[in-house]
Amino acid sequence: MAFLRTAFLLHFLHLCALNWGAWGKVELNMNDNLEVYLSDSAEIPCHYSFTDADKEPSFVMIQWFVRAAGNTTRMRIFYGDGSQQIIDNNTDYSSRINVTSDHKGTILIIKNVQLSDEREFFCQVNGLAAGNAERKTHLRVFAPPAAPVIEGVLTGISVTNSVPSKVASCEAQNGFPKPNITWYRNGLQLTPSSGYVNVLTLVTRESSGFYSVQSTLEYNVVKKDKDSHFSCEVIFSVPGAIRTMESHSINITVHYPSTMVELWKELPQGLVKEGDTVQLRCHGDGNPPSPFIFTREQEPDEDLESSGNLLILSPVSRKDSGLYQCQPLDAVGNKDVKGEVQLTVHYLDPAVVVPKDSEFMLKGEGLIATCNALSSLKTKTIWYKDGRKVGEGNSLHLTDATYETSGKYMCEVTAPALPTLRTSGSIHIIVQGGPQMVGEEEAVQLEEVTGRTVNLSCEVKGHPPPSITWSIIGSQSWQEVVSKANDHVIHSTVSVLVTSDVSALCNASNDMGTDVKAFSIKAIPRVTTTASFSPVEGGGVIIVVIILCLLLLAVLGSVFYFLHKKGKIPCGRSGKQEITKEKATKDDIVVEMKTNTKNEEAVLLKGVNGEQKGPNDQVTVV
Ligand SMILES: *[C@@H]1O[C@H](CO)[C@@H](O)[C@H](O)[C@H]1NC(C)=O
Ligand SMILES: *[C@@H]1O[C@H](CO)[C@@H](O)[C@H](O)[C@H]1NC(C)=O
Ligand SMILES: *[C@@H]1O[C@H](CO)[C@@H](O)[C@H](O)[C@H]1NC(C)=O
Ligand SMILES: *[C@@H]1O[C@H](CO)[C@@H](O)[C@H](O)[C@H]1NC(C)=O
Ligand SMILES: *[C@@H]1O[C@H](CO)[C@@H](O)[C@H](O)[C@H]1NC(C)=O
Ligand SMILES: *[C@@H]1O[C@H](CO)[C@@H](O)[C@H](O)[C@H]1NC(C)=O
Ligand SMILES: *[C@@H]1O[C@H](CO)[C@@H](O)[C@H](O)[C@H]1NC(C)=O
Repeated sequence: MAFLRTAFLLHFLHLCALNWGAWGKVELNMNDNLEVYLSDSAEIPCHYSFTDADKEPSFVMIQWFVRAAGNTTRMRIFYGDGSQQIIDNNTDYSSRINVTSDHKGTILIIKNVQLSDEREFFCQVNGLAAGNAERKTHLRVFAPPAAPVIEGVLTGISVTNSVPSKVASCEAQNGFPKPNITWYRNGLQLTPSSGYVNVLTLVTRESSGFYSVQSTLEYNVVKKDKDSHFSCEVIFSVPGAIRTMESHSINITVHYPSTMVELWKELPQGLVKEGDTVQLRCHGDGNPPSPFIFTREQEPDEDLESSGNLLILSPVSRKDSGLYQCQPLDAVGNKDVKGEVQLTVHYLDPAVVVPKDSEFMLKGEGLIATCNALSSLKTKTIWYKDGRKVGEGNSLHLTDATYETSGKYMCEVTAPALPTLRTSGSIHIIVQGGPQMVGEEEAVQLEEVTGRTVNLSCEVKGHPPPSITWSIIGSQSWQEVVSKANDHVIHSTVSVLVTSDVSALCNASNDMGTDVKAFSIKAIPRVTTTASFSPVEGGGVIIVVIILCLLLLAVLGSVFYFLHKKGKIPCGRSGKQEITKEKATKDDIVVEMKTNTKNEEAVLLKGVNGEQKGPNDQVTVV
């Protein structure tokens, strides 16, 4: 037993001596790592040299092995020596490798590198007595991922969320090795920080061996992020470098409450009057636009009915005046966020005219009429009569009334600041007084040929409308041919057949008095034409004598007539004087008639109808 042990030990020592003494040494030179793109060819060099130059080996055996990570056993894929080069059958590499060798080294060429080729490749060189050695290279395979795809959250993100909200997600697919994703906001990198920025990463190993990385950004959104843009970047390794690829930018919808609210009157433009439709619009700077609560300062607890951001008041009255407020629903709790607008509804009440409706005035009297309309604005009053401006201001002064003063007076009240605001009132003025002849002449003298007719006209003013009666002396045939009344003028015309001198009296009277106009017509005899004879047939001398006698009588008669007429002139004059005298007594008559005021209407009717009544015939010109 001891012999055997000694013999074994001797043999071991011998081997050691061969190795360290007689046997040479091989130096192998290999890179620790080789980085290649997927599908490229990888060339793994393995240089060797024998340290003992004297013992240059005659036989060198080269073998390549491969070992996957985490596997202790390895597999040969190539064998070569001076006489043969063998690519092992039935390995992953049987069809994809080639080995080129010379006396200094060997190169393993792997074509169409796969992800699974990320393995350790061993190069073993054995020169027998010249020595042997083994080293390895770790082959690293790289596959850039596809460009990152970013997707923003489509719904609005509220700034009031207490925890970071999901903002966007980003995916980089099919990379190798695992790529990383980083986030940017406005070009600045977002680093995860608790409570503000969270980045959730999901890594998927595809069946093909690639890595897909999905990253979700959660972020505490603030209002100014409505203008921010977000992007993601994928960071991945390639042989010898680190590359990046950026996604496009997205923006997000940020929801934030209003901090400023404005309320304004949209309609109507300018001043508001009663009856208008008023639109008040409210606008807040929050997003999304918030609905509003409209209130009035007078009733702060009563919500006004509105549609969205519009408050419609229709029709408005002065009671609607006041301070209006709107508050966004998204800022309830913050009482300071509100809009305000003062609404003033202007008004103009109906005009009140004093005296109202109709007013009687006596001729020569004065009157002050007033026209007032209550308004919230400064007003302007203008008086009109028959479309003509007759006064300005609240009161209208009528002095020394005449019949022309009679009529309808309109007062128009306007508010110059709001021209559509207007009202008007009216008063009817009736000037009362006795009859008054139109025209200068009190007595008219005419001459007319006997046998003709002459028209005598009489125009008279007065209120109540006077009635006109004619008394005509000296004519058997006369009649009223015109009788009309308009406004305050009564007109009467009589047609008189002149047979002899005529004196006519137009008597106008009403309750207030009487006025007369006298006419006298001097009848001019008709100029007689010379009678022509015709010889008497059958010749009677007696007849001729009779005719001559008659002619003589006629001449004598004419002479007598002329003499007689000359003697009668003074009579006509005295008649006229009597007419004027009658006028002088007029006043007495007026006093008498005034007592009989109950007959006013009857007289007025008479005047209007222009009837010639029987009793008038009783009036006789003295
Ligand atoms: C280790 O590698 C050998 C040869 O390639 C293979 O047959 C074996 O299944 C591998 N073992 C593991 C645990 O991968
Ligand atoms: C490998 O395959 C080739 C061709 O198919 C064959 O000629 C050879 O004998 C095989 N070698 C071994 C070791 O199986
Ligand atoms: C290996 O090299 C030989 C000669 O250069 C060539 O004909 C052959 O196609 C190569 N094989 C591979 C798998 O590249
Ligand atoms: C990805 O991130 C990990 C961990 O921070 C790091 O170790 C690795 O180098 C990164 N990869 C790249 C390609 O930057
Ligand atoms: C933000 O988004 C809106 C619509 O979603 C788009 O109109 C706008 O151009 C975007 N702005 C930026 C900077 O991307
Ligand atoms: C008198 O007046 C009437 C009515 O207007 C008229 O028809 C007549 O011709 C007038 N006569 C004279 C002489 O003017
Ligand atoms: C005129 O008429 C009135 C009333 O009919 C009468 O009272 C008056 O005496 C008359 N005047 C004259 C001058 O005839």
